[in-house]
Amino acid sequence: MDVIVVGLGFGADFVPIYQAHPEVGRVAIVDTDLARTTTVAQRRGIRDTFPTLDDALASSGWDAVHLLTPVRFHAEQVLQVLRSGRHCASAVPMATTLEDFDALITAQEGAQRNYMMMETAVYSREFFHARHLLESGKLGRLTYFKGDHLQNLDGFPEYWRGYPPMHYVTHALSPALALADTRVESVRCLGSSRLTPDHIGVAGEGFGTEAALFKLSGDDDLVANVTMSFFQLGRSYLEGFSVYGDEGALEWPQLEGGPMKEFSLQPLIEGRRGRAVAEVDVEPAGAPELLPEPLRRFADGGHGGSHPHLVHEFVSSIVENRAPRVDARTAATWTAPGICAHQSALRGGVEIQVPDYGDQ
Ligand SMILES: NC(=O)c1ccc[n+]([C@@H]2O[C@H](COP(=O)([O-])OP(=O)(O)OC[C@H]3O[C@@H](n4cnc5c(N)ncnc54)[C@H](O)[C@@H]3O)[C@@H](O)[C@H]2O)c1
Repeated sequence: MDVIVVGLGFGADFVPIYQAHPEVGRVAIVDTDLARTTTVAQRRGIRDTFPTLDDALASSGWDAVHLLTPVRFHAEQVLQVLRSGRHCASAVPMATTLEDFDALITAQEGAQRNYMMMETAVYSREFFHARHLLESGKLGRLTYFKGDHLQNLDGFPEYWRGYPPMHYVTHALSPALALADTRVESVRCLGSSRLTPDHIGVAGEGFGTEAALFKLSGDDDLVANVTMSFFQLGRSYLEGFSVYGDEGALEWPQLEGGPMKEFSLQPLIEGRRGRAVAEVDVEPAGAPELLPEPLRRFADGGHGGSHPHLVHEFVSSIVENRAPRVDARTAATWTAPGICAHQSALRGGVEIQVPDYGDQ
């Protein structure tokens, strides 16, 4: 199959991975910035380049498109790709309005082409380790989740100014939903630190930090406690999740790059108050064995080594004619809670019900 990669900032990292995939033939690139396209084409030996997505889609013979353009283009470009009869992957988030989620799910199901949201968090080596602990019984029954994405966006491209942090919730929330295999039922969220005039963007209002309690669906009364911050927080970058069970836990490090902490609750000793907890540092190895051999060298890369896994899942789902792990309904299930959380923050923390997008 032949693949078009659109948007060559973050997208440039994915080009060599597609080139190395045994099921991928030609790789084309698109960027409205000609200098960027030329640089990547020369570095990667690419002959097929297009100045716009329209031009690429008008050219015959391409099977799939991976969009890594700025967020505001995602919804409209995913629709464009699906309507052209191609399979489509996009960077997170799939969209930023509930109306667009509905339109995209309808378009994807009507087109009978695959859509995958390329959620790095659920293909990271940390996530593979959490899933291993859960499946091997070391966590016991799941009881609580935490997620954080704290990143200072000053100096980022202008379109990020005033971006509601909860609209980007998927990296901090999706690990909880994937591990618990459930959806968010409702959310209460408060905004902390109203945006100063120099941070307000097109939305016209909002907060530097948003803190949400997501109530998960199911009989276990589980909660995911997520903090998102893009502005006005004097703290270094942190993007991760922690998962707790009634027998053990896995916690993200305080500082990026540090070891995760694994906890395991010990038996209660008679006469002692509280059960002891064993703690060990862990540096998860990831799961390169799940990748075709030519892709394994990319498993040391950024975002927990997730990039080759994302490419492999997207390509395999097309070759095997099945839905990808993060299909349109799952993408909506993982993203809509953040849209609702921001609505809650703008309304002083009222509880908001999150739509149910059905089978995941
Ligand atoms: N961990 C992750 O999942 C992760 C990490 C980084 C970025 N992202 C996402 O990836 C996307 C790209 O991020 P970035 O940091 O590279 O952004 P960027 O703004 O730095 O780069 C975007 C590129 O797309 C090009 N572009 C803009 N509009 C275009 C259009 N209409 N058609 C074709 N090309 C166009 C720009 O010229 C630029 O080269 C964003 O959606 C971002 O949210 C996800």
